[in-house]
Amino acid sequence: MSLYVGVDLGTSAVKLLLMDGEGKIHKIVSREYPLMFPKSGWSEQAPEDWFTGTIDGLKELFEGADKSDVKGIGFGGQMHGLVTLDENDNVIRPAILWNDGRTQAETDYLNQVIGQEKLADATANIAFAGFTAPKILWMKKNEPEKFAAIRKIMLPKDYLAYCLSGSFCTDYSDASGMLLLDVANKCWSKEMLDICGITEEMLPTLYESYDVVGTLKPEIAAELGLSADVRIVAGAGDNAAAAVGTGTVGDGNCNVSLGTSGTMFISSKEFKKPSNNALHSFAHADGKYHLMACTLSAASSNKWWNDEILKTTDYAAEQAGIGTLGENHVFYLPYLMGERCPHNDTAVRAMFYGMSMDTTREDMTQAVLEGVAFSFRDALEIVKSLGLNLERTKICGGGAKSALWRKIIANVLNLKVDIIESEQGPGLGGAMLAAVGCGEYANVEEIAAKFVHIVATEEPDPEIAAKYDAKYQTYRKLYPAIKGIL
Ligand code: XUL
Repeated sequence: MSLYVGVDLGTSAVKLLLMDGEGKIHKIVSREYPLMFPKSGWSEQAPEDWFTGTIDGLKELFEGADKSDVKGIGFGGQMHGLVTLDENDNVIRPAILWNDGRTQAETDYLNQVIGQEKLADATANIAFAGFTAPKILWMKKNEPEKFAAIRKIMLPKDYLAYCLSGSFCTDYSDASGMLLLDVANKCWSKEMLDICGITEEMLPTLYESYDVVGTLKPEIAAELGLSADVRIVAGAGDNAAAAVGTGTVGDGNCNVSLGTSGTMFISSKEFKKPSNNALHSFAHADGKYHLMACTLSAASSNKWWNDEILKTTDYAAEQAGIGTLGENHVFYLPYLMGERCPHNDTAVRAMFYGMSMDTTREDMTQAVLEGVAFSFRDALEIVKSLGLNLERTKICGGGAKSALWRKIIANVLNLKVDIIESEQGPGLGGAMLAAVGCGEYANVEEIAAKFVHIVATEEPDPEIAAKYDAKYQTYRKLYPAIKGIL
């Protein structure tokens, strides 16, 4: 029996999954690490914590397993984060994460001075504050000495691959979110490197997500009790990896991820550059492409509301009293960290609107779940405006474990929501990529067809969907009304 490890390098924790070649999951462990908000809207993590947590978690993962069966390790990593190493391979500063909003000035410079058309020609995308290139420009301007020390620039999961194998590598799906990759031609954009003041030597070698990039360093293999022949596979950005894990490959399939962030992900066999650039146009982990929209505070809105405000961790109990859908008079805008799609606004903040003396705790909780669903609806409206017709979507991520939230999403989006048997997000996708890389399966489509089974479908109810449609017309008026206040 061959065993594969999927490493889901998330924002709150690293989750490690041990899977066999038939898709049976043997064990899952996780290790949390701190997330730092040094200023409002800033978001940082120490790459060293990711590595320590991963090694520690791997040791637990392999307890009781026959370690000689372990053949490969693959990744799904939080995207866009800027990791910088100096000439001695030391981390120069904490990583600046995907939901960090410090780069509005650099984002505006790229979009307005360099120009959106030029950016889209070079990379297929425009600048969003969370992308890596604006962060590089921020570092260049605000931390010139640290910027001058940069020898290697990498994405979060690539730091793990580098520490485990010594291979300085990335994959096309994750590299797409740097705004440095020419997505259509799958190579670094010389023009973008010049704009950012960096050279190609500072950037990792590009691979497909299922490519083998190296093997374990002997000292790491010895520490883990593994063979030094264990293969390290490039892996993917977490959304592309999660899409692999839900079988969202091939053409025109959709996956909604309800994790810390929320994404709507549409697979595409062909490269597409949306005319309005409002969706990200990225490479996919199956060797093809995808379109994606991202709302920054999805399940994290619910976590914030429960943990910080209601002071409870029993999310199910808070949702238990919610019955009627489509009639809530309270609205919530989920902009705790600003918003990516569709507003590209780092300054905006979250808001409740519409409370009255009869508003209850349940109404507020429901508004949080609905507000996140409405932000997905914003994404769906862009998808529709491009002439793409969706009837159904898969769903994954921590928030998708709530049946109520799935029902709200099905009705707000008016899409059938397919629930899959073993939803394990990016970790499963990472392990599946490792299995393909090690030759157990011919390609990503083949393994996805074998592993992914739909067990139920949440059908929208026409009456509730119509009520939510009317509510959405109110929701969409709220952002223009508060834009620019802060
Ligand atoms: C996608 C994005 C987030 C992170 C979360 O563009 O920024 O989904 O990948 O880890």
